[in-house]
Amino acid sequence: MSSDELLNEKTLKKLDRKLQDIISRTGIEKKTLDEVFDKYTLLTIEKFISDKIFDIVDFPISTGKEGNIFRGVKNNKEFVAIKIYRISTSTFKHIQDYILGDPRFKTIRKTRKDIVFAWAQKEFKNLQRLKKIGVRAPKPIDYRNNVLVMEYIGTKTKPAPLLKDVTLIDPKKIFEEIIDFISKMYKEAELVHGDISAFNVLIHKNKPYIIDLGQGILTEHPNALDFLKRDINNIVRYFKKYNIQADENKIYKKIVNNN
Ligand SMILES: Nc1ncnc2c1ncn2[C@@H]1O[C@H](COP(=O)(O)OP(=O)(O)OP(=O)(O)O)[C@@H](O)[C@H]1O
Ligand SMILES: [Mg+2]
Repeated sequence: MSSDELLNEKTLKKLDRKLQDIISRTGIEKKTLDEVFDKYTLLTIEKFISDKIFDIVDFPISTGKEGNIFRGVKNNKEFVAIKIYRISTSTFKHIQDYILGDPRFKTIRKTRKDIVFAWAQKEFKNLQRLKKIGVRAPKPIDYRNNVLVMEYIGTKTKPAPLLKDVTLIDPKKIFEEIIDFISKMYKEAELVHGDISAFNVLIHKNKPYIIDLGQGILTEHPNALDFLKRDINNIVRYFKKYNIQADENKIYKKIVNNN
């Protein structure tokens, strides 16, 4: 049975009730909900709730180009981060370029929806790789269709800030750790993030967490080395404001020559 067939009248009514429920409980604007929670996505959320991955969708953490992030709550006290890739308005072309070069996704059908789903799956798998090698990042919890559930990084009241929005107490330590993460990803997980910058690192309890792994690519990808160079450059450049001088070519060579 196709998922569209699942959308019979009874299901739709249930979804509408759910929607009203979410609006009244969370105060999320109807406009945001309409944009993010197309019916397909609501069904997916519903399934997570019935599988007890989380109980409610809490406040929105961020509204981005390709998706939205919400906090989810489980058992009244545990939190998760829910990343929802928008099916309708995602920058499809951008996503397509990354997915089509990845051998792990050779066999997927290439409709828009399939590609968005593959993207969520790709971020999940990349997070799994990081977990395995001990690079600090949100732990992957589950994914389904266009929705990814992962560890929430932050406090009870607010999500952790981005690197770009904090003043670091020990910038050298953080800098070295991020470079070490880039190196470990390349050498031990055969992965290049491809979009590391002060926008995609969270700082929580004075420690960096790498996020936004959707566009991460395998080292065998033809653009892997260019992306690696760019990642190193972004970080080296950013930390200049803390007077940290580092030779990015040296860092790059050390990583790719494995010495
Ligand atoms: N696990 C998490 N815990 C807490 N906050 C998170 C988590 N993951 C992401 N965020 C927050 O949500 C924002 C968007 O997440 P992410 O970078 O993964 O998505 P994006 O598609 O790049 O969105 P954007 O277009 O805004 O960059 C982050 O900048 C961060 O503030
Ligand atoms: Mg981002």
